[in-house]
Amino acid sequence: CGIVGYIGNNDSKEILLKGLEKLEYRGYDSAGIAVMNDNGVHVFKEKGRIADLREIVDLDVSANAGIGHTRWATHGPPSQANAHPHQSESTSLTLVHNGVIENYDILKREYLQDISLKSDTDTEVIVQMIELFVKDGLSVLEAFRKTLKLLKGSYALALLDENDNETIYVAKNKSPLLVGLGSDFNVVASDAMAMLQVTDQYVELMDKEIVIVTKDEVTIQTLDGDVINREAYTAELDASDIEKGTYPHYMLKEIDEQPAVVRKIVQTYRNEQGDLNIDEGIVKAMNDADRIYIIAAGTSYHAGLVGKQFIEKLAKVPVEVHISSEFGYNMPLLSEKPLFIFISQSGETADSRAVLVEIKELGYKALTITNVPGSTLSREADYTLLLHAGPEIAVASTKAYTAQLAVLAILAEVTAKSRGMNVDFDLTQELGIVANAMDVLCGAKEEFEEIAREYLATTRNCFFIGRGIDFYVGLEGALKLKEISYIQAEGFAGGELKHGTIALIENGTPVVALATQESVNLSIRGNVKEVAARGANPCIISMKGLETDEDRFVIPEVHGLLTPLISVIPLQLISYYAALHRECDVDKPRNLAKSVTVE
Ligand code: G6P
Repeated sequence: CGIVGYIGNNDSKEILLKGLEKLEYRGYDSAGIAVMNDNGVHVFKEKGRIADLREIVDLDVSANAGIGHTRWATHGPPSQANAHPHQSESTSLTLVHNGVIENYDILKREYLQDISLKSDTDTEVIVQMIELFVKDGLSVLEAFRKTLKLLKGSYALALLDENDNETIYVAKNKSPLLVGLGSDFNVVASDAMAMLQVTDQYVELMDKEIVIVTKDEVTIQTLDGDVINREAYTAELDASDIEKGTYPHYMLKEIDEQPAVVRKIVQTYRNEQGDLNIDEGIVKAMNDADRIYIIAAGTSYHAGLVGKQFIEKLAKVPVEVHISSEFGYNMPLLSEKPLFIFISQSGETADSRAVLVEIKELGYKALTITNVPGSTLSREADYTLLLHAGPEIAVASTKAYTAQLAVLAILAEVTAKSRGMNVDFDLTQELGIVANAMDVLCGAKEEFEEIAREYLATTRNCFFIGRGIDFYVGLEGALKLKEISYIQAEGFAGGELKHGTIALIENGTPVVALATQESVNLSIRGNVKEVAARGANPCIISMKGLETDEDRFVIPEVHGLLTPLISVIPLQLISYYAALHRECDVDKPRNLAKSVTVE
């Protein structure tokens, strides 16, 4: 979910709505705003998209202060009642919340037995409790503080008090939140993109801080009321980076940006001598480790699986890859000197952050690979490597995945060299070849549209097979297809197919097979024969030099280790066109959110 707030001299409605549109990729099952003027607080909320919310906002209400929210449902289904903002019983307090309050049920029983709640949300519990303490005689700030001290879980909060239309109260714990500074106004936002329309000056907030925001002043305090001074920073975002331009969808734009992103990464990680180079501290941490633990979720987890190959093959350091949500309670026996690498496009994924907190408590070092400078995972880790991919807006990750692979390859190469390992190819040059191959693939969209139409227009399911590194790309291909086209898709290891999953093959079932690895080329083709013999409709995507007449598409040749950077592009584009054919909302698939800040 995402939140925004504005207080200043201008009318807040349009600024809030525009901000929410920029945050919509974080959640879009319902949305709302509350604006406050001399006549009190006016709440508008609606199930659905920001466009639906726009329809019901009363344009005649003018107000200089307001807060807004776009929701990804956790407690309670998407509905108008469960949409934020939520109000206290007397409606004098209005709150938006991002995060999950773990003890909300206990608090409800302990404090709110006499109050009939209007929604199923944990958020309403917070606002009702604040009002309860106000009724006991505390000021709103004191009541807010007292409530925050009782909350367990994650929150980014913005609160309006009807009796004071000069102030927005803000607080955060574990969920991302920034305060933006302007002249004669100040804003609040889950990320800088939301309010880039009005300011590029932002102040970071730390966990368990309260902020009192007026149009002229921003006061940060601890929960005990001690004032904290913190400088603002300039958000280095280009507003045009977050526009679609002439593209019909962000996803297509972001797929097309991949060659440029790979070139940018090579450029950024090169030193004056032209060698690939990363921070010495990171190289030392890599060298000091006897084992590396990669922690990630979703697409970033798939990038981690490929990254393991890079690091083990080039630098010869053992690597384990773990899904972050499993790691916390299912921690493997750790080696003596582990190094943790967190891979996360957003740098905000709560599942990954929970692991980071845990391993930091154990005293271990962490490196975050992320696209978002200043994100929570970046701030809290010892080291950061940035992806330099530019904002990724489409929920389904594309350019961040290939950027993760490029950065992991560079990390592996630099580590290998510093360990005296022989790297028998020039990675800079090979990544250049990769970028050119990406250009070729992005120029072949019609082919992929055709493949999507031919194989996926009406199918119920689709399987992806591959061996070795191709298997991991298949997992990512299946995830893309699931996410945006809702076709049931699974990735399998080619050799494992016969041990159970082949039972799923029916007449006409599409099976996308990746054949980019010379060492397993014959065996994956054998697997294709097995499924074809049982009625499957195989679609072989091979690499130049390994192709046969039966192949549906041949990708340009790149270094064998780097094929995932390009073999994924056909899969991204096929998924994109499959979703289009099926009239799905490509950029905002149902039930998903771009950055999931709840565990
Ligand atoms: C969400 C998104 C996925 C993404 C995953 C991890 O579930 O819908 O597309 O891969 O989070 O996100 P991260 O920002 O940590 O890479």
